[in-house]
Amino acid sequence: MRIIIEKDYESLSKKASLLVASQILLKPDSVLGLATGSTPLGMYKNLIEMYKRNEVDFSKVTTFNLDEYYGLSPDHPQSYNSYMKNNFFDHINIPPFKCHLPKGNAKNVVTECYTYEDKISKCGGIDFQVLGIGENGHIGFNEPDDSLNVLTNLVDLRSQTIEANSRFFESSCQVPKQAISIGIATIMKAKKILLLASGENKAEAIAQMTSGHVTTKVPASLLQTHQDLILLVDEQAGKLLK
Ligand code: GLP
Repeated sequence: MRIIIEKDYESLSKKASLLVASQILLKPDSVLGLATGSTPLGMYKNLIEMYKRNEVDFSKVTTFNLDEYYGLSPDHPQSYNSYMKNNFFDHINIPPFKCHLPKGNAKNVVTECYTYEDKISKCGGIDFQVLGIGENGHIGFNEPDDSLNVLTNLVDLRSQTIEANSRFFESSCQVPKQAISIGIATIMKAKKILLLASGENKAEAIAQMTSGHVTTKVPASLLQTHQDLILLVDEQAGKLLK
């Protein structure tokens, strides 16, 4: 694991965007795994600016998002599909058919999970996976538990996650209680992983995921066994790192 500590959110976002752009420069048809939440917003903003300056070309890139709320249609304002369009896809030259997210309103969720997993494999797997981290150490929506899903699955969200994500909704009762999330093996199979964390509220999760121990109670701790992981944090999120 390589750990990079940046001074603040702005420099973390800048570094993250440069790492993603370098990946695309080296492999223009990269398959990117993408994350939502507040943390990658600065990275997306910088990448849009780089695209406008002709510094990066997304025309051959394929993307797969980590997760989607179950029960929300793709055009729901709080769906991750809307988030990705508003904050990234609509502002760059990526062909829409190359952008993938699980369908939150799929009629048959089992088929949807299988199909999503299958599409990732048919594209050759993920070259570069961007991850955030939940305060409870979740990655994607793989929540702390006695066991974790290997592949894409329907998952129940923990109350801590529902509470943390309620800031995007009018109230916490509007936050869906389930989501479709890619599994731990799907993430671990990515050739490179970049995990971003900013702010003091992530410091404990970052300390736990780098403790030298692996536990399903802190799903991100499994990443310690990945052979090409960059942990990019700001000083606040990294303040408990040993
Ligand atoms: C959600 C997403 C995760 C994300 C996490 C942290 O739960 N499913 O992929 O990493 O939030 O979000 P934030 O960056 O807003 O703290």
